Amino acid sequence: MLIKTPRGWEIPESQATPEDLFHSRRAILKGMGFAGAAGLLPSAMHGAAADESLYPAKRNTKYTLDRPLTAEAIATGYNNFYEFTLDKGQVRHQVDRFTIDPWKVKVSGLVNNPKTYDIDDLVRRFPLEERLYRFRCVEAWSMAVPWTGFPMSALLKEVDPKPEAGFIKMVTAFRPREMPGILSQPHYDWPYQEALTLDEAMNELALFCTGLYGKPLPKQNGAPIRAIMPWKYGLKNIKSIVEIEVTKKRPPTLWNKAAPTEYGWYSNVNPKKPHPRWSQAQEKLLALGPGGSFMYSMRPTLMYNGYEAFVSEIYDGSEY
Ligand code: MTE
Repeated sequence: MLIKTPRGWEIPESQATPEDLFHSRRAILKGMGFAGAAGLLPSAMHGAAADESLYPAKRNTKYTLDRPLTAEAIATGYNNFYEFTLDKGQVRHQVDRFTIDPWKVKVSGLVNNPKTYDIDDLVRRFPLEERLYRFRCVEAWSMAVPWTGFPMSALLKEVDPKPEAGFIKMVTAFRPREMPGILSQPHYDWPYQEALTLDEAMNELALFCTGLYGKPLPKQNGAPIRAIMPWKYGLKNIKSIVEIEVTKKRPPTLWNKAAPTEYGWYSNVNPKKPHPRWSQAQEKLLALGPGGSFMYSMRPTLMYNGYEAFVSEIYDGSEY
């Protein structure tokens, strides 16, 4: 199979270098067709399957931010979801044909209680909560986002991994007829696949998310269910999950397989480990500027994205 070195997460070096504090960054979105905050109607983008009565869920105040929440129009209008398009501003316009009702999530592999959940049961089975998390893409932009979801550990405890289990593999829906990016980018090894060690998945921070900004997850953000691990680069946070398999062997992941020197299997946020083509020491925190333009402020990247106290005990520092 032909694997083309992916270019998608790249940003020009000029954008990755520290610059003065606040820049107007209309240019960052040039060509993405972003109409401004007023042009977005996030409520129209939710999946039909979602039960709006479950949102907003009660906020878990244990998880706090050191920065303002990012505007909803940015988080729902500037997306990476390659199954639709590489153009971040166009993802939300490409998701119409993607059906999320009905939706099932199959949990299999080395578990004592394999199950296939219907999404409507899943969102009621494990209590939903809202958490404010930092979100850091490997491309060096960042946001601060209110997710709604439930701990991965709750689901894993129910399916009960066997003693020899060591990893979980997560797989995105593969629907070429509904996801135009799959057909236009055949060089990627679809379906999108991600994985965690069982220790990582059992960490209290790791969530399966079904909501965003107190509403059901929009399709462009991974409806009806996605993974969120805030100490890892965004690429690990796999969207629109249909399958979870508990395994003994470490599962391959799409980006690590395609470009192992650029996207580590662990992909933990690490300011000291540069991407081959740009530094990770700083990040660009996105914000809405005048007239719906995008701005960003440069900030130092924090080890494990600021979640060191929660996750450092599961690592020895050599993970990449
Ligand atoms: N999941 C799937 N299935 N396909 C993708 O292309 N992109 C990843 C991640 N999950 C991606 C995915 C990347 S690189 C990032 S930064 C985040 O989704 C973006 O999530 P957001 O659009 O909700 O900000």
